Amino acid sequence: MPFTLTTPLYYVNARPHLGHAYSTLAADAMVRFQRQQRQEAFLLTGTDEHGQKIERAAAAQNIAPQAFADAISAEFRSEWDRLGLHYDAFIRTTEPRHTRAVQDVFERLRRNGAIYKGSYSGPYCVSDELFVGEGKVGDPCPLCGKPTELVSEENYYFKLSAYGDQLLKLYQDNPDFIRPETRRNEVIAFVKSGLKDVSITRTSITWGIPVPGDEKHVLYVWFDALIGYLSGMGYASPNEADRARWEHLWPAWHLVGKEIVRFHCVYWPAFLLAAGLPLPRGIIAHGWLLFDEAKMSKSVGNVVRPEPIRQVLGADALRYFLLREVSFGQDGNFSYAALIDRYNADLANGWGNLAARLLAMIDKYCGGRVPPLHRTSGAIPPVNQTRTHFVDNMENWQFSRALEAVWALIGQTDRYISAAKPWDLAKGGAATAAQLDDVLRDGYEVLRWTAVLLAAILPESAERLWQQLGLPGKPQGVPYATLQWNMPLPAGPQLGARAPLFPRADKVKTMEELKILEESHQPSAISHQSPGAGDGRISIDDFGKVEMRVGTIVAAERIEKADKLLKLTVDIGAEVRTICAGIAKSYDPATLPGRKVVIVANLAPRKLRGIESNGMIVAATLPDGSAALISVPDDTPNGARLK
Ligand code: ME8
Ligand code: MG
Repeated sequence: MPFTLTTPLYYVNARPHLGHAYSTLAADAMVRFQRQQRQEAFLLTGTDEHGQKIERAAAAQNIAPQAFADAISAEFRSEWDRLGLHYDAFIRTTEPRHTRAVQDVFERLRRNGAIYKGSYSGPYCVSDELFVGEGKVGDPCPLCGKPTELVSEENYYFKLSAYGDQLLKLYQDNPDFIRPETRRNEVIAFVKSGLKDVSITRTSITWGIPVPGDEKHVLYVWFDALIGYLSGMGYASPNEADRARWEHLWPAWHLVGKEIVRFHCVYWPAFLLAAGLPLPRGIIAHGWLLFDEAKMSKSVGNVVRPEPIRQVLGADALRYFLLREVSFGQDGNFSYAALIDRYNADLANGWGNLAARLLAMIDKYCGGRVPPLHRTSGAIPPVNQTRTHFVDNMENWQFSRALEAVWALIGQTDRYISAAKPWDLAKGGAATAAQLDDVLRDGYEVLRWTAVLLAAILPESAERLWQQLGLPGKPQGVPYATLQWNMPLPAGPQLGARAPLFPRADKVKTMEELKILEESHQPSAISHQSPGAGDGRISIDDFGKVEMRVGTIVAAERIEKADKLLKLTVDIGAEVRTICAGIAKSYDPATLPGRKVVIVANLAPRKLRGIESNGMIVAATLPDGSAALISVPDDTPNGARLK
């Protein structure tokens, strides 16, 4: 049976933040782990695009909901691409293949007598898209605490109340259906307290999938979205091969944040039971990333973006921090300071330093050739135990403990090398030559094992280490079970070119770089739309407000403590401007003077790193996040306006 995993289908009311990245990167790591054990695996992710929350968010920007959803859904995909997160399928709930699946399931429920017509008048939480069902309008939402609003409309109801006993039996018979235990207990208590029927359609909004045969109703967004787990795999496709794929892949495991457990553990299995469709394998609920003590969320506004962190410390640093710092299932705090501290302590000074030290010694004492092992008996580092702890904890979604096991080995090996003193053994000549080889080979073997064990969690760095070790292929291609100590290597491998895996990060400087990038991070086009035709387009007058001019860069220099920024002096004919541009990673300042560029000349000035920046350089952002300056013919006069 394949290991099929889903992430939540994220709302497209705003761009992705670290909370979304956390779920997706945990899912990516888990799927890589399964594959490395030669387990067939599949990851579905996607975006949840209908409902009142999205309808409102789009209206607030005066953009048609579809255009709004198109833009934000694309931002999710490019975020996952930049972070190197792989998924096998992406479902958007506004795709026709999804509409078909949702209508199919609705018809099944109707045929099976699980639906009746009624009306709802009571509190609703738009943020969680929840019919609260009790209390009064204005009371805090039981999930997020925000005040509820009145919804009063005719609906179709689903007979959820009829499924309480079947659900309780499901949880009882499958102790792993809901993890962790705390969430399982909450769900059981909720179901035991008695289930009420739930509305599954809306009439006061239009942004949704119409109910077949009764088009003034659109389906309730949670009914719609959960079925994305089926449509994304091929369910109800007219194409037979798609349907066969769904049958092969389903049932899935669902990875979700704890606030949406009720929808996944109660509503979803009940819908499937009523439709006569197979139930999911289980739900794994993780906790929240907190920032400044509160759940990181779009509505609170305390979000951190993954992109600056990726640019400054790398995607692996982010993966490591989130999976190590937060005990999976519980809430955890995010802070830049803690991120940098862990990066330095565990990655730069820990794993990275062990690798650098050992490889430098193999270079120096063995001419860069991996030495043989002479010892025929004696203790070897406890790698088998490390492997067992790592694999067992990964199987149980305990990323943090799995990583601790590997770091324990790294620490032991560090101490072992320090105690064995290869530098002294090297002075002993022939008498200690075999011992020197043994110590360095032990260290080399540990590095090889760590690259294989960590490949699912730190894929980029594990691969770089693998190359430095002079090994062929990729570490993720080595199943954990096949790892052997002192396995014969391809004829006396020569080490590959060396470079630090994790260069040390100066805390103050790195904090500043992260802050600057976070501030200067290009706001999404969507969040700065001006009122226009209502479909995302702007009028010629709106465009006319933007004054773009040609200029020549006359000077370019780096800015101290800001690795990403360059200070540019640009001649635009009538005047010379100072402009700070986040292009230092893409351009060497020495190559810039004399180059023609396009600038936005009428932006309000702003201070970056104490320098007043007057205008903005126009550049394209490439898929890898780097910048490409826009060019104009060399003879274009400075000051020429673009229209
Ligand atoms: O709930 N900490 O979408 P959503 C940890 N569309 N994880 C977080 C987080 C945080 N601070 N913030 C968000 C929805 N997440 C529905 C799902 S599924 C059929 C429909 C992650 O955009 C976490 O996985 O509000 C959470 O459950 C999910 O994003 C919610 O994303
Ligand atoms: Mg949410």
